[in-house]
Amino acid sequence: MGAGIAYVFGLAKFEVDVVDPAEATRESCLRLVQHVADRAVKRGVLGSADSNLLTQRVSTHSSLGAISPKPLLLVEAVPEDFDLKTVALLGAETLHPTMLASNTSSISISSLAAKLTRPESFIGMHFFNPAWSNPLVEIVVGEKTSTQTAASAQQLVNIIGKDAITVEDSPGFATSRLGIALGLEAIRMVSDGVASVADIDRAMELGYRHPMGPLRLTDLVGLDVRLGIARNLAQALGSRFEPPQLLIDMVANGDLGKKSGKGFFDW
Ligand SMILES: NC(=O)c1ccc[n+]([C@@H]2O[C@H](COP(=O)([O-])OP(=O)(O)OC[C@H]3O[C@@H](n4cnc5c(N)ncnc54)[C@H](O)[C@@H]3O)[C@@H](O)[C@H]2O)c1
Repeated sequence: MGAGIAYVFGLAKFEVDVVDPAEATRESCLRLVQHVADRAVKRGVLGSADSNLLTQRVSTHSSLGAISPKPLLLVEAVPEDFDLKTVALLGAETLHPTMLASNTSSISISSLAAKLTRPESFIGMHFFNPAWSNPLVEIVVGEKTSTQTAASAQQLVNIIGKDAITVEDSPGFATSRLGIALGLEAIRMVSDGVASVADIDRAMELGYRHPMGPLRLTDLVGLDVRLGIARNLAQALGSRFEPPQLLIDMVANGDLGKKSGKGFFDW
């Protein structure tokens, strides 16, 4: 997600610093930004000079210490784990960003804000995969988020050419709660042998005009990511969000979807 978010802000002419401790991820981030920019040039929606400028605006670093303090916005996009996110956000706050955002798909913004010294400038900015082409940003307003921060987030979303929905901080927000409910049920249907993976997806694509079936979407998002969200939602909303055994087994087996080459589909 970090690479996609970097791309959209680079495209909107912001200087972007991506921080990731993993060298391989930093390299793949730059490759991905270049690849998406190249594709946009080929499709004729981006000039090659603009593409060069865009890629030059995105730099990667191994730690927060390498970037200049007081950025306009700092978006946290570490894995979906409360403790990891809390540590990353506390570190991010030491840079005194005007606005601090989390890309969490399901963790409460108010609970992530609990240890922050400036919770009023903290907000959820939930981008969707792939961020360079998905038009939505779900803005999640925590208990202590100021109206100024919410307004600035909305403004930034407009500047990067996306559409925002604003939701109160509640488990799974609007998008993950609905998306996970459908995804988990589709996985249970695979386990129950109701239909093939392809046909379950086609049911939603053709019958309900979803652009992508719930199983392909699970592959794209990452089975590990969806498992993490399901566990968080089960804790907050009850057993209807308990992850099916098939999902747990596939993650344990390393079948994480597109990023590992195999999930419900082969990639
Ligand atoms: N995958 C999706 O489709 C999707 C969509 C919307 C939101 N999200 C959310 O975005 C977040 C990231 O998801 P992802 O799929 O990109 O996960 P990912 O596991 O692919 O990437 C997370 C990255 O964070 C890095 N990281 C770990 N600790 C760090 C730290 N302390 N500082 C900086 N970087 C650190 C890891 O090296 C890794 O490269 C999660 O909260 C997830 O719920 C994911």
